[in-house]
Amino acid sequence: MTWTSYPVPMIRGTVRAPGDKSCSHRALIFAALANGPSRISGLLEGEDVLRTADAVRALGANVEHLGPGEWRVTGVGHFLSPNAPLDFGNSGTGSRLMMGAMAGFGLRAELTGDESLQARPMGRILDPLKSMGASAENDEGGRLPLTFVGSDTLQAIDYALPMASAQVKSAILLAGLNANGETIVREPRATRDHTERMLRGFGAEVDVKRTPDGGREIRLRGGQSLTAMDASIPGDPSSAAFLAAAALISPDGEVLIENVMSNDTRDGFFQVLGLGSMGGHVGAEEAGEAAGERIVSMSAASAPLKGVSVPERLVPSMIDEFPILGVVAAFATGETVVSGAEELRVKESDRIGAVVAMLQANGVEAEERPDGFVVQGCGGPPPGGGLVEARHDHRIAMSALVMGTAAEAPIRVDDISMIATSYPGFMDDMRTLGADIRDD
Ligand code: S3P
Repeated sequence: MTWTSYPVPMIRGTVRAPGDKSCSHRALIFAALANGPSRISGLLEGEDVLRTADAVRALGANVEHLGPGEWRVTGVGHFLSPNAPLDFGNSGTGSRLMMGAMAGFGLRAELTGDESLQARPMGRILDPLKSMGASAENDEGGRLPLTFVGSDTLQAIDYALPMASAQVKSAILLAGLNANGETIVREPRATRDHTERMLRGFGAEVDVKRTPDGGREIRLRGGQSLTAMDASIPGDPSSAAFLAAAALISPDGEVLIENVMSNDTRDGFFQVLGLGSMGGHVGAEEAGEAAGERIVSMSAASAPLKGVSVPERLVPSMIDEFPILGVVAAFATGETVVSGAEELRVKESDRIGAVVAMLQANGVEAEERPDGFVVQGCGGPPPGGGLVEARHDHRIAMSALVMGTAAEAPIRVDDISMIATSYPGFMDDMRTLGADIRDD
């Protein structure tokens, strides 16, 4: 069903960011691996996270939904073979972290997912886990569906990540919990560090050292058990990015987004907007702490925007924000250049192709590069009027709807159902701010 976002004169108001997707998956998985009951509040109840809840339940944890965002997970300290295939839907994070979490137990599990997930590479997870002693069947081509086989005699590894990926790092660390010896993960550039922080919260010892080239070396001793705890999930900066962008590009925009996690492994987009040369009006006020993460109230307001060359060192800390950056770039004056971001090719869609197609369909000059894209800003509202193919990608659908709020003509999106994977309240929040999005 096609949805249309109509241009509106203002985007104003206050909304609360939904629970962070990365932290929500991790809280469920760590609680399920721990012994005893953990209470989780503020959990993102998006489809991706609910698939992870189903998976840990199928592996032996007791998972109870107590109320909105409130969950109790009672782990038994290990996982057992599930009776049915584990279906991770659209979720790369759920499927990849769970392979790491299952690796150290003598179990077999069939894993599957939707069309988008079945097209995404799993070799990046399976290769290191196999060298630790896990195995997989029917995994030709390194894609789902496949049968994953864990081992209770896993060996620690010293692994240099071939790409900057928090999912790969996290899968290896989760496997390392149940391996013999010390697991070492070396990352070329710092990626989101929620696994390291939350492992400490659940009582594990994790040693993290910065390397001189901007990377990290993470060490984890095997044989550590996790202790159940209560966790409150901070708000998702990647979801807040859509709301902030809607304010920035609006002719009259001013929003306050409460409960946003502020973590330097996630804030590249806000750095580029505010501190960088784009000139966006973005502010942050301290608002406490949740699950070892800093929380801020974020404000964003309309501003004349300038194109920017995104520094490659910031790419991992804004890896999910390139679709919405493409939208902001379309409204800016001058050229925006993204490079060193080849990982975008293997997200929920090929995001380099999808962003460029979204912009071109709406009269914006944009060009693909093997490792990024270039956008010629319109110096104000782009023409709009196009139909955007979401390609099973929630962030493409949300970006296109945000763009429609301030383009010259309405923008249509062919499918918005997958927005529920990461931000089920997106439509409500956008309407609260004054967006006019309809299924006509
Ligand atoms: C995530 C890591 C990133 C990110 C994804 C969530 C995580 O993926 O794009 O949305 O929670 O660890 P990669 O590890 O593939 O970079």
